Amino acid sequence: MQTATLVNFKQKFNTPPPVWFKDIKEEAYKKITEAPFAEACRRGDKEIIKKLIVGLWPFVDVFPRLVGQKYMYLFTNPLLYFRHGPLNMLSLASSTVVFLRSIANDEKSHRLLWLDSGSAVGLKYPEDYESISLQTQIWKDGVANETEPSDMLFGYVAIEIIAESVSKNLIYSDTFKSILGEQGMKWFTVHTIDHGDISHENLELQLALAFHRKPNVAISEAATRRIMKVVDDFLASANACV
Ligand SMILES: [Fe+2]
Repeated sequence: MQTATLVNFKQKFNTPPPVWFKDIKEEAYKKITEAPFAEACRRGDKEIIKKLIVGLWPFVDVFPRLVGQKYMYLFTNPLLYFRHGPLNMLSLASSTVVFLRSIANDEKSHRLLWLDSGSAVGLKYPEDYESISLQTQIWKDGVANETEPSDMLFGYVAIEIIAESVSKNLIYSDTFKSILGEQGMKWFTVHTIDHGDISHENLELQLALAFHRKPNVAISEAATRRIMKVVDDFLASANACV
């Protein structure tokens, strides 16, 4: 059922990502891997790694619920029906529900893997995870409070890019791997699996493009601005732990 839906979606949107998307990913990867927090992880600074796991947790914790519930307002916003036409809007909204629900389920398991990474460095849940920094609050609110569908979905794309960039970089650090161990590295290994055109990232991207108000008009600029804003907010949150 789910696979058939994915195939239909793929045919409908005929998916590879637009060419400009590669530039956004490369820019984000460069910024993330050159950031002080990533350098501290590669260096194997265990105290900073612990601070990062705790510091980023409020976002990791809320993300599955955000992705799995936030789309409900799509069905009740008359402006969107007017903008996209009722039939197109219903089709877009139902595709969004199917994909975001499935993505939310995956993210629930990633949330638990994050806690496994914490256990690997001696953190206990929930007592060690109770604080939230101002920077993490800003990052979380920036993603959670976006109500324009294309920007909401570009925000989720940014989160996929962040998770993949961090993972693809740190998975090659033997020092980092030796601190986290096999179970503690699972969050990182799941975010390096290549799912091609049916990746979370590409599904969210295709939906964001479909919801964009003016197709072909400055869409790459709109995507770049929104995605890099979320990446920058993440960087502020992660670097605050260093
Ligand atoms: Fe994830």
